[in-house]
Amino acid sequence: MPRIALVTYDSGPEPSKDRDLPVLVRALREAGAEAVAVPWDDPGADWGGFDLAVIRSTWDYSWRAEEFGAWVERCGKLTRLANPPEIVRWNADKRYLGDLAAAGVPVVPTRYIAPGEPADLTDHPEYVVKPTSGAGARFAARYTRDEHDTAVRQLERMHAEGFTAMVQPYMRSIDTAGERALQFFGGSLLHAGVKGAVLAPGTPYDADKVAHPDLRPWEPTAAELAVAERALDAVPGGTEPLYARVDLVTGPDGEPCVMELELIEPNLFLWLHPDSVPRVVRAVLAAAG
Ligand SMILES: Nc1ncnc2c1ncn2[C@@H]1O[C@H](COP(=O)(O)OP(=O)(O)O)[C@@H](O)[C@H]1O
Ligand SMILES: [Mg+2]
Repeated sequence: MPRIALVTYDSGPEPSKDRDLPVLVRALREAGAEAVAVPWDDPGADWGGFDLAVIRSTWDYSWRAEEFGAWVERCGKLTRLANPPEIVRWNADKRYLGDLAAAGVPVVPTRYIAPGEPADLTDHPEYVVKPTSGAGARFAARYTRDEHDTAVRQLERMHAEGFTAMVQPYMRSIDTAGERALQFFGGSLLHAGVKGAVLAPGTPYDADKVAHPDLRPWEPTAAELAVAERALDAVPGGTEPLYARVDLVTGPDGEPCVMELELIEPNLFLWLHPDSVPRVVRAVLAAAG
């Protein structure tokens, strides 16, 4: 009977926001595994007692990136961790978009401004400033040219907190066509969804944002699948990720490009695609074996 940890966050007295977790725990148990949800920062967790630890919803990690990084390395030595530490490490810094671009994968054009570098904001009429480490659109905002001073203040605040900033053109197509999330599990496409734009004009960068507004199922196009697969082929390290979500937007040329490649703790949105549960279970059991 394989012992499997589904790694989550400690939601405290609040109910967990991970709707997939109870579904997965139940389905894995029905399939004969011993499955438990364990918060990544549980001091009593015996990681070495599991055959496999699958990172599922460690959704507080970007607030505690260093601590989480240390946990990943430690846990990866005690048990088989999915995704493996080298993939998590690479994916925790959005400068990976540069690696994807270097491998010929179309990505949202991105410039990076590290602390100490000049606040050289962009020539685009409308642009996004966000940190290279983050999730849930935390610290992300969009600006027009006449909001330059506010953008500089955000940049200075991010730099003061030690973040490197990334600057991108605002991808206008997201307002009409949304952002497509292609979910992979066990090496193949599981399902996809499309969500609306997160950054409404004028949203302050430190506002809480709705991470997946207006989410609904989506049938990916051949071009989207091709870009997503190219992005996955460019993941370094030679081990195939157990799970991946590729977020795509349509570029000005009408072609899909990568907004984000999520290899750490993607929401699987199984409630949107209940038929996917048995495939996830099979892939997790195979990874545990
Ligand atoms: N360049 C951009 N153009 C349009 N919208 C953007 C851009 N960058 C970010 N956003 C919006 O902000 C959200 C969060 O940004 P993202 O890069 O996916 O970071 P994360 O999801 O890790 O916080 C995106 O889903 C999208 O709605
Ligand atoms: Mg995102």
